[in-house]
Amino acid sequence: MVAIRVGVGRETAPGEQRVALVPDAVGRLRELGLEIVVESGAGTAAWHPDSAYGEAGAEVVSKAELYERADVIVTVRRPDTAALRAGQAVIGMLRPFADPGYVRELAVAGVTAIAFEGLPRTLSAAQTMDAMSSQDNIAGYKAAVLAADTYGRFFPLLVTAAGTARPAQVLVLGAGVAGLQAIGTARRLGAVVTGYDIRPEAEGEITSLGAQFLRLSAGPEGSGQGGYARALTEEEQRAQQEELVRHISRQDVVITTARVPGRRPPVLVTEAAVKGMRAGSVVVDMAASDLGGNVEGSRPGETIVTDGGVTVVGASELAAAMPAAASTAYSSNVRALLGHLVRDGALVIDTDDPIQAGVVLTHAGEIVHPAFGGAS
Ligand SMILES: NC(=O)c1ccc[n+]([C@@H]2O[C@H](COP(=O)([O-])OP(=O)(O)OC[C@H]3O[C@@H](n4cnc5c(N)ncnc54)[C@H](O)[C@@H]3O)[C@@H](O)[C@H]2O)c1
Repeated sequence: MVAIRVGVGRETAPGEQRVALVPDAVGRLRELGLEIVVESGAGTAAWHPDSAYGEAGAEVVSKAELYERADVIVTVRRPDTAALRAGQAVIGMLRPFADPGYVRELAVAGVTAIAFEGLPRTLSAAQTMDAMSSQDNIAGYKAAVLAADTYGRFFPLLVTAAGTARPAQVLVLGAGVAGLQAIGTARRLGAVVTGYDIRPEAEGEITSLGAQFLRLSAGPEGSGQGGYARALTEEEQRAQQEELVRHISRQDVVITTARVPGRRPPVLVTEAAVKGMRAGSVVVDMAASDLGGNVEGSRPGETIVTDGGVTVVGASELAAAMPAAASTAYSSNVRALLGHLVRDGALVIDTDDPIQAGVVLTHAGEIVHPAFGGAS
């Protein structure tokens, strides 16, 4: 039997430095009987030269050869979709919920699209494959470090002969995977940290990290399906925004991470809230995206200093800025998912399997995922 060939492309999104498979994973996948081809330069930005892939047993090829020869393309962000061919599979963070038209495009092209965004993350069997968590965890850490770097004062309480610096007050809005890591990191840097989330179960997680929990009296509670938040009504959202203004004005740093699956990120920090902050304060909007973010006026990939002296960082895709750690973690998620999908050296699509039912979006020219109109 001829084993499938897994191709690792060079990422093309601006600023993207991660690679989907690191050399260490190449050897392990070969043990599953898979062949690996790697586009020349794919790992360079994550400190993995072509020679390391060669030594691990992969073949280093040109982009054209990669797309021609690979049966499965593994990727961090969307691949060069135009280069994919019918019968080929692609595995990555494909952002299907942001743009269902993309899912249709892949189905029409006859591509089997497999997206980490659909993984049933609470299934214990899926946890080693949870790229959304591994990348959010890194992004949360980076957000706290970035905030500390951008803030022109200390995070910790510091007593020196030249005076005493009070600790920074940091508020983290949204306490999922990224938010909890941002809270823990800001705490380790010595800041006084407060966390907020609309899921009531987040309170225990926030306080167990040594942070205070912010309870709003308007307090909409918002647990939705699968452990995620639900979207608030317009009225609930307005009440939340208005009450947050007062709390935000007391902070030196605000880090926002709030998301609702399949929706635009909720606005938690209004223009009025930013206006209320002291000059020198910092806001890091991890939800900043082309769909909008948690902070009114933030723009993905841009840092804006308001007239009032508040620095607003549109910090999408922060894991890409820690490419070595992020690629290592992502690579083990890819390896675990491939290990689940491959039987006797072949990719076996079976949407009766709960993990596959979540991640497989298209197959054999059809949309198969019910969230995008598939028959389930
Ligand atoms: N292995 C597992 O069991 C596993 C793995 C990953 C995540 N999870 C759980 O999944 C859930 C979602 O995690 P995530 O990091 O992917 O979340 P996410 O990225 O979808 O959202 C980030 C956070 O924003 C919060 N949020 C949304 N709207 C908000 C609003 N209007 N105001 C305040 N906060 C708001 C959400 O409650 C969430 O905590 C969590 O319960 C997490 O513990 C479980």
